[in-house]
Order: sequence, then structure tokens, then C-alpha cells
Amino acid sequence: MKNTIVVGSQWGDEGKAKVIDVLAEHADVVIRFQGGANAGHTVVVGDQEFVFHLIPSAIMRPTKTCVIGNGVVLDPAQLLHEIEELEGRGFSVRGRLWLAENMQIVMPWHKQLDRLKEEAAGKNAIGTTGRGIGPAYVDKVARCGIRLCDLLDEQGLRAKVESILVEKNLLFTKIYDAPALEAGSIVSDYLEFGRKLAPLVANASLVLERAMKAGQHLLFEGAQGTILDVDHGTYPYVTSSNTIAGSACCGSGVGPTAIQSVIGVVKAYTTRVGNGPFPTELDGQLGESLRTWGGEFGATTGRPRRCGWFDAMVVRKAVRVNGITGLAITKVDVLDKLAEIKVCVGYTVDGRQIDDLPVQVNDFAKVEPVYETLPGWLSDTSAAVSWSDLPPAAKNYLERLAELVGAPIAMVSVGPRRDQAIFLP
Ligand code: GDP
Ligand code: IMO
Ligand code: MG
Repeated sequence: MKNTIVVGSQWGDEGKAKVIDVLAEHADVVIRFQGGANAGHTVVVGDQEFVFHLIPSAIMRPTKTCVIGNGVVLDPAQLLHEIEELEGRGFSVRGRLWLAENMQIVMPWHKQLDRLKEEAAGKNAIGTTGRGIGPAYVDKVARCGIRLCDLLDEQGLRAKVESILVEKNLLFTKIYDAPALEAGSIVSDYLEFGRKLAPLVANASLVLERAMKAGQHLLFEGAQGTILDVDHGTYPYVTSSNTIAGSACCGSGVGPTAIQSVIGVVKAYTTRVGNGPFPTELDGQLGESLRTWGGEFGATTGRPRRCGWFDAMVVRKAVRVNGITGLAITKVDVLDKLAEIKVCVGYTVDGRQIDDLPVQVNDFAKVEPVYETLPGWLSDTSAAVSWSDLPPAAKNYLERLAELVGAPIAMVSVGPRRDQAIFLP
């Protein structure tokens, strides 16, 4: 296997975790490189379902190494909870889960600020997951973040927390009329997290270099999706990290020349959680049906996902900005009951065709999708194990999507389980 980056190509929840779990069979090390516990990654193994927010989705494969890279913002309480849950279900992580020592920590003030800002924004709220992600990245870039290595240094941590809280508490009490946070209990909680996580802390960049030198193969697990990227997405209705493939190198300490392929995970239709424009959204019964058939409820917040037709403009952009070399098209089975399926092949604004997603969110909200209608297959695809098992109309639909977005199909998924995956040569 080549060193491969797997990214979401739409607005998240494309089925990245399922694809990672399947591809990990032929990889050695799986790395999360951005985002945080805003991600909700679902893996189904046999009759067990696991939802990971921070731990790479290959942890169910006992011989694989997992790394959380420096580009992630880490909520240590959430990570410890995930570790405990895994261990409670018989999966050990010790000795094969490594945490980058230079990773930023999500602190209580980040979560409080995320919540307060969203409340204050009212109808203009982003619809964040409330996990403190935006404020944690703000402080990283403002150079006033706490890093994992700081949780192992009692004196240093105390000094940093006390100094940071002077400013944060002014913000909370004077601007938001909210309670101040108390340094003492935060320091003792986070030192305790540090003590528990210390055996997993590593120089992740070195771990990855050594793995490659030993001939091992890396698989990078993106979180969120391309159109939630802070630069390339529907700003400001985005997350606060770069979600695209280029971010995998910055977020792990691996150079770009180590990467040979990029898999773009694409849902056979489109979903979005949170606010912001969504040109192909289906408001009526059809949207409701897709939500029911696809089980489209957020894996992190439980919110119903907004559902709509496949948007080739969105995925074409994803192919470009990620350098996608192969598509993994998921949830094809969810469309089994439709006699006709629409695909957005372009956008018009005031009757004129445009080449790409508009840069201003208000303009994006005004685009008119141009649809093409394709015949459905009206049969069960969930047992297909090879391309030839798929009904001709399904193959036709998938080939049309690949043609429209300009990338070849590498894999098709027809259900949540591991065995419901079809590989193309
Ligand atoms: P991620 O965030 O991209 O990893 O995706 P999520 O886990 O948030 O959401 C994808 C959901 O679809 C999960 O419940 C998966 O178990 C499920 N899933 C993944 N692939 C398929 C598929 O091909 N068909 C169906 N029906 N469900 C799938
Ligand atoms: P996975 O990895 C879908 C969305 C939120 C909100 C916006 C900003 O499971 O695909 P944030 O909490 O990041 O500041 O919220 O981004 N969002 C996701 N939507 N899947 C995700 O992750 C998401 N992570 C964040 O709903 O609209
Ligand atoms: Mg998800």
C-alpha cells in the first residue's frame, strides 16, 4: 500500500471512518492530523458499533499503530473516556496509540467561549459542535495555547493557566456576563490528565519517520470535509482547521514527498450538519426519506443531518484542492429505493453558469443548481461484493459521478460493515 491521505470531500460524515477501517487492513500506522472531538467517526465491526471522536478509526485492528498528530486539538477528558470505553470492550490501546507532544489542548475556557459565542450570535450562529474547537485553534495561532507537553510540567502549567485566565476571565465576566473560571481546579484536573496520558506522549513526527524507514505504510485520517475547510469552505460556516489533504503533513510532521495517494470519501448524495448554504438540500419528504434510510443523525451531537442530492460542483472542487487520486463512494445502498436520482452538474447565478463555488457565502446561498436526472436501480445493493454485482443503473450512476468530478472510483461502499466494500482495480 502507498502512504495515503483519506479526506472528506463534502461537508463531513461521508463515511471516512468506515473507509479508514477497511483500508487499514493494508496499512501499518493510522494518523489523525486535524480537528478534534468535533469529529464523529463510526466503525462497525461485526455486531459492534464504535464512534470515535479522537482515536484513529483503525484502533479496532489490534496490530495497527495509531497516532494523534500535532494538528489535532485534544480534549484529554474525551480521549481518556474513549480509551476507557475501548478497554472496557476488550481492545487495548497501550503501546500502539501515540500522542504528539506538541499537540494543542482544548481547555475549559475554549468550550465555554464556543458556547457563549454561539449563544450571542443568535440566528447567525455557525451551529458548532460546542467542543471548543474554534477557540482552541484561535489560541494556538495567537501563541497562547496549552500543549500536551505542558500537562507534564506542573509549575509551567500553573503559571500558564493563571496568566491566560486573567484575560479570559475579563472576557467572560465583562463581555459575556458569565462566571469566571478558577485556575486551581483546572490545573489539578489537567495535571491528572497529563499523568494518565504520559505513557502515550511521543515525538509523533519521529515515530512516523521511523515507521517509514522500517518499510511501514501510513494512512492519514481526515476529519470534517473539504467544504468545512477554514480556507476553502463556505466561510464563516466552516470548522476552524484546514481539513484538506495538504493539512496532513503540517498536522503530523511528515513531509509531502512521503505521500503517494489521496482518497476522497464521497457520499452518494450530500449531507450537512450545522448552518450555512447547501444548494442541493431537499427540504421535503425526499430529504426526510434520505435521512431515515441513511440514518443521518450526527455522530457527535445527534442533530438531524440536512440531506440533499449529490453536488458535483462541491466534489469537483474537492478533487482539485485535495489532489484526489481515487474516490471512495459510500452509502450507495441508501439510494436503492429511488426510481430517479438527481445530480447537480453545475450552478447558475442570474441565469449564467459559474465555474466554481462563489467565495462569498451570501452569493453561494443564491446559486441555482443545474440538475441531471439519472435512472435509479430499485434493487438491493447491500450484498454486492464486486463491481459486477451492482445493477447496471447503479454502475451508470457511479460512473457518471466520477466523470463529473474528474477522478476515478477506487472503492464503493454499500453498507456500514467491513465486508460491504467493493474495490476497483
Ligand atoms: P465520518 O464522520 O465520515 O466517519 O462518517 P460518520 O461515521 O459520521 O457517518 C457515516 C455513517 O454512515 C455511519 O453511521 C456509518 O456506519 C455509516 N456508513 C458508512 N458507510 C456506509 C454505507 O456504505 N452504507 C450505509 N448504509 N451506511 C454507511
Ligand atoms: P466528521 O469528522 C460534520 C461542523 C459543525 C458546524 C461546523 C463548525 O465526523 O465528518 P465546529 O464544532 O467544528 O467549530 O463546528 O462544522 N462539523 C462537522 N460536520 N461532520 C464533522 O466531523 C464535523 N465537525 C464539525 O456541525 O457546522
Ligand atoms: Mg462524522
